[in-house]
Amino acid sequence: MVIIMDEWLELKANLIKAAEESSDLEAIEAIRISAVGKKGSITGLMKSLGGLDAESRKEAGQLLNKIKTEVTAAIDSRKVDLESSALEAQLLKDRVDVTLPVRPDKAGSIHPITQTIDELTAIFCQMGFSVAEGPHIETDYYNFTALNIPPEHPARQEQDTFYLPPDDTGVPRVLRTHTSPVQIRTMEKTAPPIKIIVPGRTFRSDHDATHSPMFHQVEGLVIDKKSHMGHLKGCLIDFCRAFFGVDDLPVRFRPSYFPFTEPSAEVDIGCTRAGGEFRIGKGDDWLEILGSGMVHPRVLAGCGIDPDEYQGFAFGMGIERIAMLKYGIPDLRPFYDSDIRWLKHYGFVPLDIPTVSKGINQ
Ligand code: DAH
Repeated sequence: MVIIMDEWLELKANLIKAAEESSDLEAIEAIRISAVGKKGSITGLMKSLGGLDAESRKEAGQLLNKIKTEVTAAIDSRKVDLESSALEAQLLKDRVDVTLPVRPDKAGSIHPITQTIDELTAIFCQMGFSVAEGPHIETDYYNFTALNIPPEHPARQEQDTFYLPPDDTGVPRVLRTHTSPVQIRTMEKTAPPIKIIVPGRTFRSDHDATHSPMFHQVEGLVIDKKSHMGHLKGCLIDFCRAFFGVDDLPVRFRPSYFPFTEPSAEVDIGCTRAGGEFRIGKGDDWLEILGSGMVHPRVLAGCGIDPDEYQGFAFGMGIERIAMLKYGIPDLRPFYDSDIRWLKHYGFVPLDIPTVSKGINQ
């Protein structure tokens, strides 16, 4: 028995040494299997105890168990060491290089309509205007009647109105066909002087290459005791030159007719179409860009403003139209398609000033 036990102690020493010297997780696993696996050396010895008498079996069993515990502890401790150095090696290999430049951000861009609203708002706000808004669903009264367009007036037909079912009290409703009803809403609740612009959505039952059932307008309204046609002209000439960025841009006022203004004028800007190239500026041609006029006395009176005391001027223009002219966008339809390629091409970096889209009114 003594000899055998010496062999066992030698086996234990060898196994512990092998474990301590093993260099990777695979090697340590092989040692574990060779010692305490199903066919391992220690397992084999344990099985052989069956042939001994009870006394010797107890003694030898205790020794073998102790050997097994020590060998297993040595294997486990080496395994922990190897695992942590394997992890360290992996972390070193996978190290993030924080000095690498960041990946370019996929930044969104400002839609040309938003950009145009922001630009024109900035220009008018510098002239002392503030921004007003109104509902898209309007009553027939605000959209037409209060603007001196009575029920039988032919201008109602010209506007291709989307009619809605009347509200609970039977009031006829429409999707607003222009931003002009906000003139009325503002005059009803604000005492003059008034100086507002109203950018917003408008709706008409019209759809082709140059018309969309939903589009945008900006309305302007100035009411004061001494405002006159000269103010209208100065204001709109300054705006056109600032918006198109052409200091000597020719601006022409052509007599026209709108039910809510008297007199009325359409405004043209100079352009050239020489040699197939279109350019805004001094030239031999004109382009209509907006409607305007002195607010009709009947409209003022309807809002409770005395036309003998106050006068004012108003104007309205299509936002898509001036955006297309300024930025050379040839087709109206892609404005509403949300095609990423179009948006990337025609989109803008946000302006670094307070804007309507950032909440200028808040
Ligand atoms: N509301 C008109 C339209 O949609 C545009 C317009 C013309 C507005 C003259 C005005 C104005 O305020 O004075 O066609």
